[in-house]
Amino acid sequence: MLGPPSAGKGTQASLLSQRFDILHLATGDILREAVAAGSSLGKKAKKFMDTGALVPDAIVIGLLEGKMKSTQSQTGFILDGFPRNVDQAKQLEEFTDLDLVLCIEVDPNRLVERATGRRSCKNCGAIYHVRYNPPKQLGICDKCGGPLFLRDDDNEEIVRKRLRTYEDQTKPVIQYYESIGKLKYVEGEGSIEDVQKKLLDAIVEQWPQLKDAAYGPMPVKKPVVSTPPKPSPQPSQQPRPQHGQGAPHGGGGRSHRGGRGRGRRGRYFGKPGSKGPNKP
Ligand code: AP5
Repeated sequence: MLGPPSAGKGTQASLLSQRFDILHLATGDILREAVAAGSSLGKKAKKFMDTGALVPDAIVIGLLEGKMKSTQSQTGFILDGFPRNVDQAKQLEEFTDLDLVLCIEVDPNRLVERATGRRSCKNCGAIYHVRYNPPKQLGICDKCGGPLFLRDDDNEEIVRKRLRTYEDQTKPVIQYYESIGKLKYVEGEGSIEDVQKKLLDAIVEQWPQLKDAAYGPMPVKKPVVSTPPKPSPQPSQQPRPQHGQGAPHGGGGRSHRGGRGRGRRGRYFGKPGSKGPNKP
């Protein structure tokens, strides 16, 4: 899932994750988790995030790989905000072939307003907007009662820098995916529900067999925050894998906050030949 800052990637990926029961991995969320944890990688990353620049690939990929290793996925994942430059795209190709790249397009003039009006839940990562998707109670998350906050990089000056970074470094990635026929543009104007419908249409166009899942009622999932995996039971006791149990969401939450995402293969990056299917 690609698109400019505040295009609605997290909001939409969260809804798709819930609907199709697949993981939502957002590198922005993974980085913010590392910053909040005060880890050394998080401290390094914050310096770049606060200026609207991309965090160095080694840090992002290290954190993403760590997240994937600590989690499980049998059905694939939605990557949100990754890859963000051509080098990241090349490294990702060593691991997997993406099935589909969705790029949400929004008039740049609207993006600043979306970013500066965004409020995120400190506990569960749910996303609100003071005007377009306000919480019922000012400053309080509808889903978990956690406090809402304004991200450090959501001030106008930094948002404009993030937009420039997007133009310079991420647009070439989008053009690359377009050139190999993997990209579908989706117009990100209109309500959150309108945009979700357009994304579902694009997905059903690609995979008609997903029509019922795409247009049927939204599955209800128990909210679960990302936690370390439990020790594996003996093979005979192996439970059916559970997916989509991300943090509370709907109408704009991060379902997994960069949650769980290890596939059945070994290392995610830097191991050529470990490609595999990641169908929804
Ligand atoms: P990241 O968190 O990925 O920021 P971003 O790409 O700028 O995207 P946002 O999270 O700002 O927005 P979004 O598109 O998810 O929109 P949302 O759904 O929240 O990255 C932050 C930083 O981390 C980067 O600047 C970089 O430094 C670093 N980083 C991350 N990934 C990296 C990577 N791969 N490599 C290197 N560095 C990396 O919606 C925004 C607002 O709009 C919300 O308030 C929402 O409620 C509202 N909204 C959504 N849809 C609608 C709608 N249809 N109508 C009205 N309002 C809407």
